[in-house]
Amino acid sequence: MIRERDATLTTGVEEREATAKSDDDVLINVEYSGVNFKDALVASIDGRVRRVDELIGGVDAAGSIISSTDPALPVGTKVAVHGADLGVGRDGGFAEFLYAPSRLISVLPAAITTRDAMVIGTAGFTAMASVLALKEHGLAPHSEVLVTGATGGVGSLAVSLLHAYDYQPVASTGSPQESQWLLERGAARIIGRDDIADRPDRVLASERWSGAIDCVGGTTLEQILRSLRYGAAVAASGLVASAELHTNVYPFITRAVALLGIDAVEAPSATRQHVWERLGDVAPHVDFSALVDREIGLERLDDALATIKRGGTRGRILVRPAFARD
Ligand SMILES: NC(=O)c1ccc[n+]([C@@H]2O[C@H](COP(=O)([O-])OP(=O)(O)OC[C@H]3O[C@@H](n4cnc5c(N)ncnc54)[C@H](OP(=O)(O)O)[C@@H]3O)[C@@H](O)[C@H]2O)c1
Repeated sequence: MIRERDATLTTGVEEREATAKSDDDVLINVEYSGVNFKDALVASIDGRVRRVDELIGGVDAAGSIISSTDPALPVGTKVAVHGADLGVGRDGGFAEFLYAPSRLISVLPAAITTRDAMVIGTAGFTAMASVLALKEHGLAPHSEVLVTGATGGVGSLAVSLLHAYDYQPVASTGSPQESQWLLERGAARIIGRDDIADRPDRVLASERWSGAIDCVGGTTLEQILRSLRYGAAVAASGLVASAELHTNVYPFITRAVALLGIDAVEAPSATRQHVWERLGDVAPHVDFSALVDREIGLERLDDALATIKRGGTRGRILVRPAFARD
């Protein structure tokens, strides 16, 4: 539970009845949730993401339906739920039970368990949406694709998914001690965070990347745009370094590059289901368990949120709300 009173924020675990916001909300028994960078912003006094003073956090969850009036979501269906104001403006996934509107709920493909669904989570959904956007833009088979923030949630899933699709992910990371782990996840090679910058004396850098998946933003995205090959695209989803983007039109008008915006939050139902189905297609080729940083109960959430805020995670932190009572 997160509470802001008189500019002071408190967090803690407590017993509270799950409440529906609308009569047609679907009730889900949460088996797993995941910790996202956005959850850390929601749990910060200065995060500017949270829309209410009091709520249960958790921007995503997976579990089974225990009450529903939607014929497409019968009782017992295994689902993932994320997006809109979940865990931001209404109670989210850091709870055993969760009411959510059906438009935010996706039926899980048979190949994806609720645990794997939260290894994927909003981060993996975003990574897959990025891969699909690059493919749709014409990314040639087996191409080298740059992935920034590679040890994080979006980054590590992007590396694994690109590898599953037979692309050559080049992992950019500020955590060189995790190089071996990234190679085992499918990275073709590793570069440092600063290795993206090239030819500062020129308007454009050398043409290096056939595609890129960026969740870092700021100068990293600026450098990627300067170094994409002719006709290539970058799928941009995040701002861990900065929300600012300073660039010029040269990459667009002389190299025909594209900046593809990726949004998991307001994605329409049909898009959500499409992305989850494609995740189901590649699931047999991805070792999701190897992407788990740790699995925790609600009582260790504060520590996990602090870790992700300082960029200290490797892959995904899973939350099991019923953990403490097992
Ligand atoms: N558009 C959407 O719908 C959507 C959906 C999900 C997430 N996001 C955004 O995507 C971003 C990543 O989310 P996440 O959950 O994957 O976070 P995360 O797990 O914390 O991963 C971010 C990674 O970025 C790198 N990093 C951290 N600080 C950095 C800095 N100052 N400069 C450069 N790199 C830095 C770190 O990897 P290395 O140590 O390997 O460099 C870190 O692990 C966030 O901005 C989040 O809000 C957007």
